[in-house]
Amino acid sequence: MERRDFIRLCATSCAATAVSFSDDALAAADAKPRLYGKVQLTDSTGQPLRAAQLAVGENYVFHYPFEATPCFLLNLGKPTPQNVALKTGDGAAYQWPGGVGAQRAIVAYSAICSHQLTYPTRQISFISYRSQSTARASRPNMIHCCSEHSEYDPAAGAKVMGGPAPQPLCAILLEHDRSSDALFATGTLGGELFNTFFSKYEMRLSLEHGGGRAQQRVAGKTTVSALAQFCKQQVRC
Ligand code: FES
Repeated sequence: MERRDFIRLCATSCAATAVSFSDDALAAADAKPRLYGKVQLTDSTGQPLRAAQLAVGENYVFHYPFEATPCFLLNLGKPTPQNVALKTGDGAAYQWPGGVGAQRAIVAYSAICSHQLTYPTRQISFISYRSQSTARASRPNMIHCCSEHSEYDPAAGAKVMGGPAPQPLCAILLEHDRSSDALFATGTLGGELFNTFFSKYEMRLSLEHGGGRAQQRVAGKTTVSALAQFCKQQVRC
């Protein structure tokens, strides 16, 4: 049994209702990139998505590295800084490499809030990117979780800017092919919470995805959807 499988087996054996870093600690301890395989981002017709198709400030969703783990894809519209120094909840340091694409403005993160694992489902989303501030989300251009108002800066590796979140959203590593303008997900960087997520939502994910499919690795390609199309209701706060 591989170490990752062993860790996942242990995690799913435990009842967990709040985020604990213990079951993901081995994966996050060195805070090095975890390469899950190169997966092409496609549009809803299965054609390769081009970076130029991404509207600035729009929330897009895809699933990676597992069938049930959602990620945000964002075009921030301007170059992001490179090599942003961050730490996981366990204190492991890492450097977020910055955005990709012609402008280095395209970024991706796990859409699972690091506080208590709120995530966008097909029915409802309490977490999303907002280009404008609101009464409860006082900073513009943040990923905001309406559950307890954690805020993450997507231009800085999803660094925590407010609220109870104990660590940045886990970054999804992207590759951009200049000649074709295609985008690929290749791995993660930062504090993963996938084991805790699978444990907390085991029943729901099993119903939504059937059997053990929720934890199957995405292979080959993954579909990118606008959040407004993926999800029936977006909670704004
Ligand atoms: S789950 Fe997101 S702030 Fe609590």
